[in-house]
Amino acid sequence: MIRTAIFGVGNVASALVQGVQHCRRNGTEAVSLLLPDIGGYRPEDIEFVAAFDIDRRKVGEPLSQAIFACPNNTLAFEDGSDWSGVTVSAGRILDGVSDPVRGAAEYGFLPIETGEGTRESIVETLRASSAEVAINFMPVGSQQATEFYAECAIEAGVAFVNAIPVFIASNPIWAARFAEAGLPVLGDDFKGQVGATIVHRALVDLFKMRNAEVDCSYQLNVGGNTDFLNMVDEERLASKRLSKTESVQSAAKSRFAARNLQIGPSDFVPWLKDRKVAFIRMEGRLFGGAPINVEVRMDVEDSPNAAVMAVAAIRLARLARDRGLKGAQPDISAFLFKHPPEQMRDDEGHRRILEFIGRCAT
Ligand SMILES: NC(=O)c1ccc[n+]([C@@H]2O[C@H](COP(=O)([O-])OP(=O)(O)OC[C@H]3O[C@@H](n4cnc5c(N)ncnc54)[C@H](O)[C@@H]3O)[C@@H](O)[C@H]2O)c1
Repeated sequence: MIRTAIFGVGNVASALVQGVQHCRRNGTEAVSLLLPDIGGYRPEDIEFVAAFDIDRRKVGEPLSQAIFACPNNTLAFEDGSDWSGVTVSAGRILDGVSDPVRGAAEYGFLPIETGEGTRESIVETLRASSAEVAINFMPVGSQQATEFYAECAIEAGVAFVNAIPVFIASNPIWAARFAEAGLPVLGDDFKGQVGATIVHRALVDLFKMRNAEVDCSYQLNVGGNTDFLNMVDEERLASKRLSKTESVQSAAKSRFAARNLQIGPSDFVPWLKDRKVAFIRMEGRLFGGAPINVEVRMDVEDSPNAAVMAVAAIRLARLARDRGLKGAQPDISAFLFKHPPEQMRDDEGHRRILEFIGRCAT
């Protein structure tokens, strides 16, 4: 069993909780599961023991209901009833709620009336639940809230998986703090299973392998979930743009000039709900300077695409913890995250995870 705590019961947490239940119900028949066996840990070993949020439609509710509370709008494919006994606790708001989310009618934030959690109450809940791994699903731009929950994890002695583009695992200062506490930290910012970033990286890598020139490229993304509404606030996007852009830059033959590569969330389209549409374009030159343009339009349910990576990351964090590994874990982060401590080719990242799992199994 892997006792797991969740910070932020939004759409990705919903897909994660449903996904683990889906694995419990379907075993090896679970659809498109990544890394079914990680050193003896299977997805069905994940046990949610604590969860934190700051919206009154979620706090105080059973986790099984909070995952479907408004404004969550991802696919419902399981009922989450395995975790009807876990109550969502109050977190601390800090910078977790952006102006666009605060002001939106349907998606708007509803503060809890019973008051926010404190550092002491959150650490106590983590300890009382015997959580071993915590996963951070704060909205993009939540620097303070993410650092706050990282502190809570350290104080409670819990390994940390950082799903979002605030740099913790890839920040040497934070990595050292987890190392001092004797805890592993994985991150930052999940790649989707087949998401826009990995597709874009694969295209850039293809051009590199065939020695074709890419002159300029963009990846524009739109979606209708709270994540996209939050990202309308350009001021919260600096680290998201950096994370996505570096992920593509690091796969290129030579770095793009900044003006020739534009990547990022571009708009909120409410009727798309949890669907994300990505438009990728590459313009370049083949032999003799002959022009080539490639266009990809990808349409994908956003949250399960990240949740499957969480199902792997939680088990890898637990395995790293079992082995007494501390601090950042470059070998097992590069395949799963856009901004890992060390960028590497995706096939190399995959190979290192398999090597890690193999080593652990013996
Ligand atoms: N969907 C993907 O493919 C993908 C990939 C990589 C990373 N991510 C990132 O994962 C994160 C979560 O995404 P999501 O779609 O679930 O977002 P979401 O907006 O649906 O969920 C965020 C949740 O956090 C809660 N919250 C906000 N501030 C809080 C605080 N201070 N304390 C506790 N709870 C707080 C909100 O009430 C909400 O329930 C985002 O940063 C997103 O960019 C998503």
